Amino acid sequence: MKGKFIAFEGCEGAGKSTQMRLLSDWLTARGIPHILTREPGGGAISEAIRKIILDGKNSAMTDECEALLYAAARAQHLADTVLPALERGVSVLCDRYVCSSFAYQGYGRGLPLSFLREINARALERCMPDVTLFLDITPESAFERKHGADPDDRMEQAGAAFHARVYEGYRALLAAHPDGMAAIDCTGTKFETSARIVAFLTKRGIFA
Ligand code: TYD
Repeated sequence: MKGKFIAFEGCEGAGKSTQMRLLSDWLTARGIPHILTREPGGGAISEAIRKIILDGKNSAMTDECEALLYAAARAQHLADTVLPALERGVSVLCDRYVCSSFAYQGYGRGLPLSFLREINARALERCMPDVTLFLDITPESAFERKHGADPDDRMEQAGAAFHARVYEGYRALLAAHPDGMAAIDCTGTKFETSARIVAFLTKRGIFA
């Protein structure tokens, strides 16, 4: 049987990696084989692309170049990490996926969603997550939690208005894809959020 593919989405500092670790502990306790991975990155080539995209020195990067690099990293990550795991029956917990491109490059940068669909078509056709979990916390609260934006991270430095558009983008994507995406309230403790995620995934029948 194929593994399950769960994507975690949200603004910077929403707590995706913490929630992925807590879900991983829950899966391990039940003997469910899985891997944790991330975009952009997850493999040697995609991690190299990640460094170029996020490097604060690359301020001259065009929005189109940025979108294409995210799509390129994704194509490689799918081929070398995600698809082989799913085929082996291993579930995949992925920190960000195509939704990030629509939210950040589409709503945030203002690129047409049609262009993003086109450059991500292979990923959209071949491998959509069983569900995309949106950790729902506003960028203001999230940046407050992580004590401000990282000065060396080009995306985190994009400004409050940009991150507000990204958040609105996620809300629009949720409204348009109520079956594929779910908003998880993460205003409580990390354990309360984790319990909500587990309750959602078991109710959906994704994990027993
Ligand atoms: P991530 O490592 O998740 O950063 P953080 O842990 O700080 O949330 O993601 C790196 C950055 O890349 C983040 O700012 C979101 C951005 N991103 C896009 O703009 N488009 C994409 O398609 C992806 C996958 C990420």
